[in-house]
Amino acid sequence: MSIKIAVFVSGRGSNLNAIIQAVEDGELDAEIVQVISNDPEAQALTIAAQHGIETFALSHKGIKRREHEDRILEHLKGLGTIDYIVLAGYMRVLSSHFLKAFRHEDGYFSVINIHPSLLPAFPGINGYEEAFNYGVKVSGVTVHLVDEKVDHGPILAQVPFPRFAEDTLDSFCARGLSVEHSLYPSVLQQIAEIGIEGLYLSKPEQRNREKTVKK
Ligand code: GRF
Repeated sequence: MSIKIAVFVSGRGSNLNAIIQAVEDGELDAEIVQVISNDPEAQALTIAAQHGIETFALSHKGIKRREHEDRILEHLKGLGTIDYIVLAGYMRVLSSHFLKAFRHEDGYFSVINIHPSLLPAFPGINGYEEAFNYGVKVSGVTVHLVDEKVDHGPILAQVPFPRFAEDTLDSFCARGLSVEHSLYPSVLQQIAEIGIEGLYLSKPEQRNREKTVKK
């Protein structure tokens, strides 16, 4: 089933570009309804426009988080059905107030993020740098559902990649980014094909609850 997505961006837009390419190449059955940014100058907005995708930018500067989120929510309402919010380098933490607007009947929020580490290791804005500086021999990329905590929530997919002795931070990041660019579109395609539920593993307490309900 084709999915309708809104992609949230703040910067360079290389993941957005990978998602657009996958849609254009027929590898991802999705409609990018709009690309939304908190930074009117984000390069990602230019990428979207070059591909004929509508954009909407609202700077967060000078307004309270709640008002910024409310104005984006109001804007989203006008776009009709959005199945998933796809965060691709969106540098704002979404509050539970915002997330509640995307609560699925199965309990999770229909908001997806990509993070440049094997979560729960190295959350935060410098995933690659922190993993590299720590001296890991293996790092990776995580695609997960978003919850109220930062870089946290049910994991949909993880792909590891090696760090070699001769790596610089740049070569390490480049290896990770190329993993991101194939992983994100392919996870979105799996969601289009089988839905979210088949992709994450429930935690033990959740499994126990499910057993109790089934009895
Ligand atoms: C990526 O590394 C992504 O994992 C992280 O932010 C970065 C965004 O890069 N959440 P880009 O804007 O997609 O190039």
